[in-house]
Amino acid sequence: MTTSNMPAISFDRVSLSIANRKIIDDVSFEVSKGEFVCVVGPSGCGKTTLLRMVIGLAQPNDGEVRRFGQPVTGPVRDVAVVFQDYGRALLPWRTAAGNVALALEAAGTPKAERADTIASLLEKVGLRGHGDKYPGQLSGGMQQRVQIARCLAQQPGILLMDEPFGALDAMTRQTLQDEIAEIVAGTGTTVMFVTHDIDEAIYLGDRVVQLDANPGRVAEISDVSLARPRDQISSREAPEFLRLRHVLFAHIERSAHP
Ligand SMILES: Nc1ncnc2c1ncn2[C@@H]1O[C@H](COP(=O)(O)OP(=O)(O)OP(=O)(O)O)[C@@H](O)[C@H]1O
Ligand SMILES: [Mg+2]
Repeated sequence: MTTSNMPAISFDRVSLSIANRKIIDDVSFEVSKGEFVCVVGPSGCGKTTLLRMVIGLAQPNDGEVRRFGQPVTGPVRDVAVVFQDYGRALLPWRTAAGNVALALEAAGTPKAERADTIASLLEKVGLRGHGDKYPGQLSGGMQQRVQIARCLAQQPGILLMDEPFGALDAMTRQTLQDEIAEIVAGTGTTVMFVTHDIDEAIYLGDRVVQLDANPGRVAEISDVSLARPRDQISSREAPEFLRLRHVLFAHIERSAHP
């Protein structure tokens, strides 16, 4: 296999202990290039830790994490991360446009091209006309859009998202779910999307990896055979959606009352 048809992300029998406590136990799964994989599990089961391993901020004690077949050694420009805490992810003294510009500056995009690129990215995330506002002047949903635009400016092959919509109201959350699905569709971007919301995971994912806690381990991996583009009403009423919901919630019930 050449590098390009290797899985974008591989967890290969990964375990991690911190201070003699097992955090991650023998986790194996892969994310194919262009696939949208959601990871769900209770608080503390190691979701963020798995993302940190993909960028090399946490190292397994056993097993290996690979990107496109290569063992992870550290962060690279090809991987972008959208954090849950948008308040701290943005620089408050830079405007929305200025925050997006950061990624372009880092990529060495010529100054003359930056303004057009920023305008089209802000437009893509629904922030046309808001480029000159500071994060403190934007709502939570708008700040999260800025963070997403900044990640897209990186043109990442792999997009990692850590409960990116967790702090938003239900309507904003649904809008952003549809936006992110539309933005990555057809771009070949690989997405690993962490959430504790089972419905969100089914709605967005090509597959859902369900984790158990203490220690974090894979409980089930489910294929989501819902047609795309998805629709907030009809997809959520589809028998396949309800079937998966049943499977995933039943597992939580079983692990809560073994
Ligand atoms: N640097 C660290 N030192 C000690 N314990 C840690 C460290 N990082 C993570 N842990 C522990 O590892 C476990 C997994 O943490 P992690 O943040 O990955 O969970 P999570 O699934 O992302 O939780 P949440 O849904 O609350 O964000 C937790 O029990 C946490 O306390
Ligand atoms: Mg977390």
